[in-house]
Amino acid sequence: MKLNKDAQEAVSAINPDEMDVVIGWLKGAHKVSVLSGAGISKESGIPTFREAQTGLWAQYDPEKLATAAGFLNDPPLVWRWYDWRRQMLDSVKPNAGHQALAELEQLISEFVVITQNVDGLHTVAGTQNLLELHGSIRRFKCFRHGHPATEEIPLGLTEPPRCYCGSPLRPDVVWFGESLPEDIWKQAVLTAENCQVMLVVGTSGLVQPAASLPITAKRARTRVIEINPTPTPISDIADIYFSGPSGEILPKILEEFKKK
Ligand code: OAD
Repeated sequence: MKLNKDAQEAVSAINPDEMDVVIGWLKGAHKVSVLSGAGISKESGIPTFREAQTGLWAQYDPEKLATAAGFLNDPPLVWRWYDWRRQMLDSVKPNAGHQALAELEQLISEFVVITQNVDGLHTVAGTQNLLELHGSIRRFKCFRHGHPATEEIPLGLTEPPRCYCGSPLRPDVVWFGESLPEDIWKQAVLTAENCQVMLVVGTSGLVQPAASLPITAKRARTRVIEINPTPTPISDIADIYFSGPSGEILPKILEEFKKK
């Protein structure tokens, strides 16, 4: 996973003709995918990463908190930061955007959500066909060998518990400088190559390799629709860009899809 440059700022509005076109594409497709990012969970109350002021990386240093070197340097610090983020999840629920995607899955024959999010909210909303590219903050594995933790890890620990092999446990997420889980990445690329429509929702499109998936889809002549209040590098290749919060736009797409 690599960091790229910042996104630019601008705004546009939803055009009803474009909504008709999108619904036509979705109705005509039997393979639809979604690439989601932190923006889809924002309306649930979970901060994004790169937004000025409110984004996590505006307040915390990813080198210290989201790298293996950071963990080695100060395991309790990294543990407590993820523990805080896990505690945040205790009080949040999926929003109308997550729910609309879970319902669309029931209406389209092959529907896959590829997410960069580690919050698990797509699953809580009922999405079944899910590829978690960056892992899950709700799972743990050992730092040295990757042994999955089988026991429940309570909230509130101030330092990492130990694996049976003696190594400290870490969250089962992908840190900067690490590779994505190979099998999940392969499935995501196949999905992008084979779908007819891809919705790109709430991602800055700045983190590789996830950000390459809409480009892979485009090369395979997939229709790419972006939903984001702020344009991103993906806006340049999207066939249609809907500007606004996904908690409003995705339910609107679902509503129009059900009407026609
Ligand atoms: P970012 O924080 O980079 O981008 C969030 C995007 O969501 C921005 O483009 C916002 O404009 C958009 N956004 C904000 N509010 C929204 C809303 N209500 N509806 C829709 N979109 C909205 O988050 P990601 O692109 O997901 O990795 O970041 C990718 C990865 O970088 C993350 O998975 C994370 C991070 O470092 C790890 O920590 C493993």
